[in-house]
Amino acid sequence: MTAGTEAVAALFGRAFGSAPAGFWRAPGRVNLIGEHTDYNDGFVLPFAIDRATTVAVTLRDDSRIRLVSTFDGVVVESDLDRVRRRDFDGWAAYPLGVLWAIGEHTGRAPERGFDVAVDSDVPVGAGLSSSAAIEMAVAVALNDLLGLGLTRADLARIGRRAENIAVGAPTGIMDQSASVFGQADAAVFLDCRTLAVEQVPLGFDAAGLVLLVIDTKVEHQHATGGYRDRREACERGAAAMGVPALRDLTIDDLPRAQQHLDPVTYRRVKHIVTEDARVLASVAALKAGDLHRFGTLMDASHVSMRDDFEISVPQLDAVVETAQAAGAIGARMTGGGFGGCAIALVHAQDAEPLAERVRQVFADHGWHEPVPFTVRPSDGAGAV
Ligand code: GLA
Repeated sequence: MTAGTEAVAALFGRAFGSAPAGFWRAPGRVNLIGEHTDYNDGFVLPFAIDRATTVAVTLRDDSRIRLVSTFDGVVVESDLDRVRRRDFDGWAAYPLGVLWAIGEHTGRAPERGFDVAVDSDVPVGAGLSSSAAIEMAVAVALNDLLGLGLTRADLARIGRRAENIAVGAPTGIMDQSASVFGQADAAVFLDCRTLAVEQVPLGFDAAGLVLLVIDTKVEHQHATGGYRDRREACERGAAAMGVPALRDLTIDDLPRAQQHLDPVTYRRVKHIVTEDARVLASVAALKAGDLHRFGTLMDASHVSMRDDFEISVPQLDAVVETAQAAGAIGARMTGGGFGGCAIALVHAQDAEPLAERVRQVFADHGWHEPVPFTVRPSDGAGAV
């Protein structure tokens, strides 16, 4: 048993007085490159990390639903009827939202309730998709237990639907896709329009490199504020340029975009168009084993997010600058922005000194103490 399964097994027994039918897990993700491109039908290159949500689940013969998590150990009660009416809130909105979205997707509302215990070591609010991890863990569990036969792409769509509707965050499909399509030592190259997936071997180990994540502890919220605003700017830009999505523009269209669009919308569009190109160039570089080229694309992506998309914050910029000064192969903020994490691709022996340097820089500014840790590209969601 993994630590996560032991924790949920014990909690399940305590809360519900029986043993679960099984265990499932789904990882969080970090995005290597391709930011805010997912809801523009573009390209992303995340990987599933070695931190996951584990669930213990048993189907019930009635319509009751009971949920408990190791965060507070308090049992939350619901039932199929409330789920149908989308009557849920708090953390239970993630698992219940998935149940609701399964009904919408399959056209048949599930007829049996369930008991679920949840444990997670994906840090919450850090931009590592703790919410996608819980959604996908519950989705794979219910897919197996209810014999739904849904594909991984279906499960990702269901998770995004749950997130968009149940939780109210207007996010794209990257996080759920990374969580279900992840593979050890590889990144998930995803075309967000077709959901075509290719696992791209990373070779970090062989090159003696690690991916250091630095959680700035600056909190972000995607249901409101900047994220939604950027999404709207992209939609405006696509409409003004007469294309279904910004994915349909190329670098060659940028001069025309600059003539047509107001300066702010133009900068948003420019980020998306250049970022899509950087993802494609990154995949080519990784396939060619050219990690240094990939590193320069990471750096360029950060500049684009800082100056054109304007979703960085001083803490993220400081991590990136510190990493670059310390000789990182590449560094950038990752995720939705306005806080959360930055990543740096570094030689293994440089990770701890860089973490220490970043702690020092944050202390000098009087900022909240950052949390650095390394992540490994890992397998996606499934039964344990
Ligand atoms: C968040 C969203 C994703 C994606 C990223 C930005 O993580 O959940 O869908 O839009 O931001 O790339």
